Amino acid sequence: MTTLKKVSFGKLVAPKDGTVIAFVDENLAGGSFLEGLYGGTLDALGKAAEIAGFTGKMAAALDLIAPAGLDLERLIVVGLGKTDELSELDWQNLGGTVYGLAQKASADKVFIAFDLLGESAAAPENAAGFAAGMKLRSYKFDDFKTKKADEASSDPVTIQIGVADTNAAKKAWGAAEAIADGVILARDLVDQPANVLGPVEFAARAKALSKLGAEVEVLGEKEMKKLKMDALLGVSQGAVRPPRLAVMRWNGGKKSEKPVAFVGKGVVFDTGGISIKPSGGMEEMKGDMGGAATVVGVMHALAARKAKVNAIGVIGLVENMPDGNAQRPGDIVTAMSGTTIEILNTDAEGRLVLADALWYTQEKYKPAFVIDLATLTGAIIVALGHQNAGLYSNDDTIADQLKAASEVTGEGVWRMPLSKEYDKIIDTPNADVKNTGGRWAGSITAAQFLQRFIQDGTTWVHLDIAGPAFGGPKTEICQAWASGFGVRLLDRLVSDNYEGK
Ligand code: BES
Ligand code: MN
Ligand code: ZN
Repeated sequence: MTTLKKVSFGKLVAPKDGTVIAFVDENLAGGSFLEGLYGGTLDALGKAAEIAGFTGKMAAALDLIAPAGLDLERLIVVGLGKTDELSELDWQNLGGTVYGLAQKASADKVFIAFDLLGESAAAPENAAGFAAGMKLRSYKFDDFKTKKADEASSDPVTIQIGVADTNAAKKAWGAAEAIADGVILARDLVDQPANVLGPVEFAARAKALSKLGAEVEVLGEKEMKKLKMDALLGVSQGAVRPPRLAVMRWNGGKKSEKPVAFVGKGVVFDTGGISIKPSGGMEEMKGDMGGAATVVGVMHALAARKAKVNAIGVIGLVENMPDGNAQRPGDIVTAMSGTTIEILNTDAEGRLVLADALWYTQEKYKPAFVIDLATLTGAIIVALGHQNAGLYSNDDTIADQLKAASEVTGEGVWRMPLSKEYDKIIDTPNADVKNTGGRWAGSITAAQFLQRFIQDGTTWVHLDIAGPAFGGPKTEICQAWASGFGVRLLDRLVSDNYEGK
């Protein structure tokens, strides 16, 4: 991948050359930096703005090439609109927008002036959020490009952000960068092709979190057999490459504190198995480990910013392949919980992996809550598109906390129903439960299936992220196929509600 390597924060002093980016509000008023740059008069800017029809509205830009009277190559003036209405998310998105402008201008050296333009521009968190937006925008999956494309635009080499309080901004950047790096890690895992990233390779990427002080344990087939994880193992049995279960632990909280737990579906490739998928678009199923990628990304963020929380990440890593040894429709397996499952469709495999991963997590860690993430159903994409994940929960408090975190991070969630009427659909005369409820309410019956593996008293959330995890529209902060959806959401859930409490 390629990503912005370094952002430095320094004083609000104009550089002698390169590109300067400065903000103005809806009245085209800049702060004292911009006024100083123009020797106290903004007349030149006013004239250019008028000709270009630039009004200073949010995220609009006025690109002044070789501005008269200055040695700079470029001065890009960016509108903030009404400066008192800017949210944290606005600043992050603006960072993405500005990175895009710098690319388009092929600017090598960029200085961004966080001029004292109201409280919002002065807040160090906003400068850090802006830098995070730049970094997220810069992510590109290009590992397999052997030649650099002859592009009209190019990435900036150095980025400097001028702020009023350098130390405060650097401190805020520490946490913001940890989170952005978690998102980028999740994206990279999702973007990697399945021939390169099998269960073993994925587990090794999880293991690398130990560099940040996390404890990582990887279970192989033998250990999983001993634990009687036959639901997970059944999915994997048609694959040549062996399965893994990776367990990541970050102990940043008090010893006595119950951990929070994240569980991810990590199907490195989903052919559908014997209930094979149609070939059109099947390549997208290299992203069927998106839930697991998000869990690794969140664990990275928590460990890298030394969050004051105890957190567990558990990911079930398998490949769903058709083969002489593959699971058949009609097979009945016994999950680790003892529940028997009739497999009616081998393409409904994610829930089988999660059934055992969820049970293991509850048995072993008795977590304060467990949130599972999975690219679980096509049905949720039909319902919510790429804009929202389906949220299912047995607890209104955590559902509301997630909704609040969703609003600040801009990572959409929409609550979906659970009920006995839906649960009934997955009853079968042949076993305790069947692994598909058919076409109608497909995402809901998948969630009902998971709930059969949630113990009494466990606070549980299921996020069906099949829509937002990959393939959505490009945004100010994501130009890639994989979005890393959920890393910022869950990190925020933790920092707002479960840290140092
Ligand atoms: N991995 C898929 C769901 C999916 C589809 C994710 C498209 C992202 C994009 C999942 O394993 C699956 O195949 N689900 C089936 C379930 C059905 C057989 C009950 C589906 O949604 O069609
Ligand atoms: Mn499937
Ligand atoms: Zn799948």
